[in-house]
Amino acid sequence: MYKILLGAHSGFRYIIFVLIAVALVMALTGLFGKKNYTELNRKINLFTLISAHIQLLLGLVLYFFSPFVNYANMGVAMKDTVSRYWTVEHLVMMIFAVILITVGHSRSKKAVDAFFKHRSIAIYYGLAILVILAAIYQSGRPLIGSAS
Ligand code: HEM
Repeated sequence: MYKILLGAHSGFRYIIFVLIAVALVMALTGLFGKKNYTELNRKINLFTLISAHIQLLLGLVLYFFSPFVNYANMGVAMKDTVSRYWTVEHLVMMIFAVILITVGHSRSKKAVDAFFKHRSIAIYYGLAILVILAAIYQSGRPLIGSAS
């Protein structure tokens, strides 16, 4: 069970990454090129939101299976860098990234003007991708199979 969840959660990072990157580039070209907010924009932004929420759920379940997570004894977890990262830091950073994506999507949905729709995605998805990249860099597992 643990291996399946870890494999799914690990592979899903690429789906999220590609979707946020595409959404971000489209929002920036829309913003600076003063383009309309198209159906494609709406769909890519929505799929990014959905994939982030799926990853959040996978992560939450994985949290209770991982041998690196020690939520039962936070004092011990905090003293070990690897355990602290998987018990606290990864969770906090990634939940923050998912919140940014959720807020960005909701604000872009509420905005009437194409400019504000693109701007909301550019700002919030842009920040989210930075948080996710920083968290993955910090994990020391930048690619699938780099767990040691
Ligand atoms: C955008 C959201 C997230 C992304 C992109 C992400 C990405 C990753 C990556 C790349 C790994 C390393 C997988 C590997 O070793 O191959 C990982 C592992 C893990 N993540 Fe996430 N994660 C996210 C959200 C979460 C959340 C919200 C939680 C917990 C509530 C979580 C819990 C875990 C756990 C427990 C591990 C496994 C540690 C282990 O046993 O090796 N993740 N995640």
